[in-house]
Amino acid sequence: MRTIFFAIVLVSSASHMFAQDSALAPTPPMGWNSWNKFECNVSEDLIKQTADAMVKSGMKDAGYQYVIIDDCWQVARDKDGNILADPQRFPSGIKALADYVHAAGLKFGIYSDVGTKTCAGRPGSLGHEYQDARQYAAWTVDYLKYDWCNTITQDGHAAYSLMRQALDASGRPIVLSICEWGSHTPWLWGKDAGGNLWRTTGDIKDRWQGRVKWPAGDCCSNGVVDIVDQQVGLDSFAGPGHWNDPDMLEVGNGGMTDTEYRSHFSLWAILAAPLIAGNDVRNMRPEIRDILTNKEVIGVDQDQPGSEGKRVKKNGDLEVWAKQMKDGSRAVILFNRGSAEHQVSVNWEDIGYPNHLQAAVRDLWDKKDLGRFTGSFSASVVSHGVVMVMVKP
Ligand code: GLA
Repeated sequence: MRTIFFAIVLVSSASHMFAQDSALAPTPPMGWNSWNKFECNVSEDLIKQTADAMVKSGMKDAGYQYVIIDDCWQVARDKDGNILADPQRFPSGIKALADYVHAAGLKFGIYSDVGTKTCAGRPGSLGHEYQDARQYAAWTVDYLKYDWCNTITQDGHAAYSLMRQALDASGRPIVLSICEWGSHTPWLWGKDAGGNLWRTTGDIKDRWQGRVKWPAGDCCSNGVVDIVDQQVGLDSFAGPGHWNDPDMLEVGNGGMTDTEYRSHFSLWAILAAPLIAGNDVRNMRPEIRDILTNKEVIGVDQDQPGSEGKRVKKNGDLEVWAKQMKDGSRAVILFNRGSAEHQVSVNWEDIGYPNHLQAAVRDLWDKKDLGRFTGSFSASVVSHGVVMVMVKP
């Protein structure tokens, strides 16, 4: 009996060797993923060109690290159950591709699914968890996005813990991105399961607003503001090594205005969200590159040790979001969801400061110091826009 007890203790402490090491994702992961723009149209050429473009465009310098192939890289299993990449689209194989990405100074990520099949109908990892994890480690994968389609009767906590144990057993530190769409409150068990980030909602779409149920009825797709609303109340579950993930960025994909993309990016930063770009970084307009590489806004997202910001005031379509920074400053978003320009204000008491306090205010998009203010700050905010400032006493 005693031997069994010790064995269990040993197994469970070893199983989270890397997961509990917040060194794996000390700040919200940053990178690029193929799905939002390219869906199943992935290939080694696309991934190589994207890695090159991330270096050339300044995205790597701005902190983007992971290059992640989403669904559809895999086609079948061989007679021994080993997962096979599409030989037409990845003729040089996944290891050579990972080497290319690493040589560019970036990290390499891949995608699989808890169930029998991925969401696009490719082989899932059910029953092959250890075999797949070993393969990913042999390919020098650094990040696994693990989806939730075709799961039959599995339990989320158990299924993601199993993959975490398999990844740890592979001997390679691999970030585990839990993608079960927030269906079973992953913020309550994602950290314990060894996840480094977990999706809190169904899929993002390249639109401002509008929730649409998936045909299977299990979840949904969302616009930016639908996702933002679903983050309210989740801030206390995030921290170094384990982040809420409101899904990847749509910035630059063409369905929203630049004002809306700036709001999307600002809100993700204040939410300490993973910043995973989802556009064609090989062909970005300068305006889009400037949004994705704004170092002061990224600095809000990546502040260490991280805490997630939250909505501190709502008055109809006018909202104030704030995030406490390590040095005691507050990053603040004045957000106008309405259809006409409007004045939005933040009172110091909304962000935990006494009203007599004098603080310096800096505009993070205009990159301008606006002066010192006592008790409050207000600005005119365009429709669907933000004014994002740092308030520093
Ligand atoms: C699900 C995920 C998406 C994407 C697709 C791929 O919908 O939530 O992010 O990975 O599957 O098929």
